[in-house]
Amino acid sequence: MLKIEDLHYNYEDGTPALCGIDLTIAEGEFLAVLGSNGSGKTTLIKHLNGLLQPALGRVLLDGKQIGSLDEAEVFSRIGVVFQDPDDQLFAPTVEEDVAFGPSNMGLSPVAVKERVHEALHMVGMQDFARKPIHALSHGQRKRICVAGVLAMEPRVMILDEPTAGLDPMGVHQLMHLLEDLNKNKGITMIMATHMVDLVPLFMSRIAILSKGQVLRCGNSEEVFADSALMEKARLHLPLIAELMNLLKERDRVNLKHIPLTVGEARREILRLLSVEDVRSRVLGEAMDNGR
Ligand SMILES: Nc1ncnc2c1ncn2[C@@H]1O[C@H](COP(=O)(O)OP(=O)(O)OP(=O)(O)O)[C@@H](O)[C@H]1O
Ligand SMILES: [Mg+2]
Repeated sequence: MLKIEDLHYNYEDGTPALCGIDLTIAEGEFLAVLGSNGSGKTTLIKHLNGLLQPALGRVLLDGKQIGSLDEAEVFSRIGVVFQDPDDQLFAPTVEEDVAFGPSNMGLSPVAVKERVHEALHMVGMQDFARKPIHALSHGQRKRICVAGVLAMEPRVMILDEPTAGLDPMGVHQLMHLLEDLNKNKGITMIMATHMVDLVPLFMSRIAILSKGQVLRCGNSEEVFADSALMEKARLHLPLIAELMNLLKERDRVNLKHIPLTVGEARREILRLLSVEDVRSRVLGEAMDNGR
């Protein structure tokens, strides 16, 4: 669906932000873009809806170069939630802001109202429709940014660190909302994040960015197993994987693989405990028998 070929970009001051990115994103996938500060995530995202023009290389949407498509068409098909909500929100009130996208798509006022209502409901902000944007907290503004994109019902959603600044319950709700939209409505998701713990739970593939290049692309098991790669990209493993890795390497606990989520770790620990349980029972019986 989206194809990025040999993408290069330098900022005006000469900073080389993208140095030859090749990446293909299939319809319906949920891709995580991981990378340390300054690795190029935001710059890459700005190329995916034509906000920045590449110095070299190209971005194709369904085989057509983004730059050659009508801007309104690109914006209605690809919704971007920016890293900084103040780059995105500009209308005086919440409902006006969320209504902006669908109104521009030529929908009737009734249909726009419906979309705004539904989108605000999805992000848990239905009671804030009349509130001025400037009177919202940072996390609330982020939610309104997501609502503004949802109201356009795009085929692709690109989110630049959407969970940053959300409270823990907000992170949980947003991730489940994105998962639901991805699985049940088929919306392709691309999300830049630093929250490695979320990745194995929600994303089907990861692209690791470092110094404007994709170091590796693969699923969580492949990517997180490569410790040299993680170090090179200045990233760390999900916390639960760090713990299980320590148990394996330092304490020589017999782990078959490194679990990446709490659920996997729980199953692995239960497996080990049941082995221990059997072993101690056998040992206990042996001792009872005087052997
Ligand atoms: N407007 C700009 N002018 C000059 N250099 C810039 C500009 N914006 C970003 N850069 C540089 O481009 C590189 C990539 O920045 P980018 O914002 O894409 O990184 P990022 O991966 O999104 O980082 P973060 O995790 O901090 O959001 C960095 O070296 C940064 O300093
Ligand atoms: Mg960024």
